[in-house]
Amino acid sequence: MAQSAIKRAWWKECSIYQIYPASFKDSNGDGIGDIPGIISKLDYIKALGIDIIWSCPIYKSPQVDMGYDISDYKDIYAPYGTVADVEELIKGCHDRGMKFLMDLVVNHTSDQHKWFQEAKSSKDSPYRDWYIWKKPKYDAEGKRQPPNNWGAMWGGSAWEYDEPSDEYYLHLFAPEQPDLNWEHTPVRDAVHDIVRFWLDKGVDGFRLDVINFISKVPELPDAPITRKDQVYQPGDKYFACGPRLHEYLLEIGSILKEYNAFSVGEMPCVQDPKEILKAVAFDRGELNMIFNFEIVDMDIGDEGKFSPRPWTMPILKRIVNKWQNFMIDNDGWNSLYLENHDQSRSVSRWGSDLPEFRTLAAKMFATFLALQSGTVFVYQGQEIGMINIPIERPVSEYKDLETLNAWKELLERHPDDKELQRITHQEIQLKSRDNARTPMQWDTSKYGGFSTAEPWQKENESYKDINAESQAGVKGSVFEYWASILRLRKAHKDIFIYGDFRLLDAEHQDVFAYTRTFEGKTAIIVTNFRKTPVEWTLPEKISLQETNVLVSNYGGISVVGGKASLRPFEAFASFAS
Ligand code: GLC
Ligand code: CA
Repeated sequence: MAQSAIKRAWWKECSIYQIYPASFKDSNGDGIGDIPGIISKLDYIKALGIDIIWSCPIYKSPQVDMGYDISDYKDIYAPYGTVADVEELIKGCHDRGMKFLMDLVVNHTSDQHKWFQEAKSSKDSPYRDWYIWKKPKYDAEGKRQPPNNWGAMWGGSAWEYDEPSDEYYLHLFAPEQPDLNWEHTPVRDAVHDIVRFWLDKGVDGFRLDVINFISKVPELPDAPITRKDQVYQPGDKYFACGPRLHEYLLEIGSILKEYNAFSVGEMPCVQDPKEILKAVAFDRGELNMIFNFEIVDMDIGDEGKFSPRPWTMPILKRIVNKWQNFMIDNDGWNSLYLENHDQSRSVSRWGSDLPEFRTLAAKMFATFLALQSGTVFVYQGQEIGMINIPIERPVSEYKDLETLNAWKELLERHPDDKELQRITHQEIQLKSRDNARTPMQWDTSKYGGFSTAEPWQKENESYKDINAESQAGVKGSVFEYWASILRLRKAHKDIFIYGDFRLLDAEHQDVFAYTRTFEGKTAIIVTNFRKTPVEWTLPEKISLQETNVLVSNYGGISVVGGKASLRPFEAFASFAS
């Protein structure tokens, strides 16, 4: 695209910090993070250079899925605080020039929500059609079966039988998370009402949970058999990006526009950027940007999240290159993330968390990610280089239902296969969501300064070495490195936010390098993903001088005669001449 045609927007220039409320900061000594805890850390977040804070769900919820099962959208989960606390939090953000986003979970509710309680109470309830109900099927032996073969995300059928009405309801996630029926107009009206309720309270926008699942192919057909090892099959062909998705998103988008609000949608199960562009192209009026899953899925095997898949640098580069260029060329926009509450710690997962490497690796990933084109998301703890749970921790101490369900199923199906159990434990340690959910590590005091009581999820033993107190304001820390990268994006917006992207050396096995260019001015970003030194040849047209270096995790570069000698996990960005 001609760079004169570039569309500038405030939400493209923002850096966003994601909070997992249960694990961020406990203010009242019950071992659970809370809203006053968040408020007490706003200056810390501001010091990182953050413009927007997004908190995972804080609404009233039975917490079957850590608040992604909401029982009242206009009330707050009591251990987190009150609506008045949220108002104070919003004010605290605004006073510091930051915005605040809520997590909008409206593909499904909790089964404890009064809408579902009503719907379940009788087939004649005015709320019955708010959810998706179907008659059973009967197999050749006359046995009752679910209406179709879709599997739920965390195992078993996606349908739950309701004895009194002799019908099933659909739940793409846990049985306690029934899917809303978006075809039914009152459901959409109710969602719009919730959106306005929070915008009127001063919230600045939303992260929209699994938002591409809200429109299903109405016939709900059987899914093709792609998991021969399982009875129930992934049905995403029929529920991801369904026929009315964009109509529904446009309705929400038009409300957001009234308030000049921010939006990022979560969109699993899509790898085609053309499909995504329909939601995020600049003139569509739907969403600002979405989270795609291609990077975080690249090491997931064919048999589910906890089966292994080797990944290579050329694979990672193809993914990044595809999304970067597609969105730049087509007036769309990317979100940039490596971590969130559903992913493990990037340093451990794709780098190295050995004490001698993890600081370098954390800075390397920051350089790799945040100088690409897109809006940057930093997940709590990522800014200090937090790492995964140690392998010594038994799976029985994990808390997340995704991990626990998968482990239980494995033990049932392969009770004697110790080797498979060992591999799966390893994959859990590598990828479980629990890795992101251990308490934020504030200082070296007991429980890492997260709480005075035993935390709901055991702290990561690394807190003595990795904590905010030893990093914020301390030269050379991961925190200050992240801050410098976020500053850099803003100091050179034309290049780092609005510039073109060009991948270098697509087939190189160790180095990820790219350039960003705006009206003839070029920056080059070079990162070594290995714990070993690597020699890398610069492109012929590019020459580097020490004085042009913008950021470097070793505090200087070594480039002689067009060759860069990269140290373990070395990363730098530099103007090129
Ligand atoms: C999203 C959330 C995840 C949750 C799921 C169901 O993927 O990020 O945490 O479990 O939706 O709501
Ligand atoms: Ca608390």
